[in-house]
Amino acid sequence: MTRLAGKRIIVTAGPTLEAIDPVRFLSNRSSGKQGYLIAEALAQRGADVCLVSGPVCLPCPFGVTRIEVESARDMLAAVEAELPADVFIAVAAVADWRPAQARARKAEKSALETSLHLVENPDILRTIATRQAGRPDLVIGFAAETHDVAGRARAKRLRKGCDWIIANDVSGDVMGGDENAAWLISDHEEIAWSRTQKAEIAARLAGRIEAALCAL
Ligand code: CTP
Repeated sequence: MTRLAGKRIIVTAGPTLEAIDPVRFLSNRSSGKQGYLIAEALAQRGADVCLVSGPVCLPCPFGVTRIEVESARDMLAAVEAELPADVFIAVAAVADWRPAQARARKAEKSALETSLHLVENPDILRTIATRQAGRPDLVIGFAAETHDVAGRARAKRLRKGCDWIIANDVSGDVMGGDENAAWLISDHEEIAWSRTQKAEIAARLAGRIEAALCAL
């Protein structure tokens, strides 16, 4: 299967870590499994895949180039440095905020309680999806929701400016598990994938990407 040969695809995966001080951080829950499986499925179809990954306990998939990052700002810088690309897929669970200042020395607990100021992180997906020059042809986001999954994902797709959004219901045991149920939502269709292996979701998404790029 080499129908994606010559296509460059950037995938973000895993959580980001936002340092409070040398021993503490803020983060989001993410095993990285779904993003890694997507990167692997695309590489198996011949794509040149760059996986920009936050800290996870997973080996780099065969045939994929991995760039390891820690914070959201590092993740955005790594993605921008890897452009141009035909496709960008944001699977990472990016921390929404970071401490305004990472302290060089371990902070006193009492000081943190009263003075931990947070600032918003850059939105990597939105930044790439709304680029004036060099926007990838296909930009895909993920929406992990616990309620009103499809409705929130539809709104998120428009807010972020991405072409497709993959919505998944994380109200059960999806986080860290090997299965997922998802919807692929675009401007003209909504496809439901009932609960199945994350590898199968990755394979179906790779197939849709292949078809979309061939149609361009
Ligand atoms: N995302 C991103 N950069 C951020 C936040 C999110 O690239 N700073 C991407 C994620 O990788 C995912 C999509 O945006 O593809 C949606 O992430 P989610 O956390 O569900 O969205 P938020 O914008 O944080 O919205 P919410 O208010 O629902 O948390």
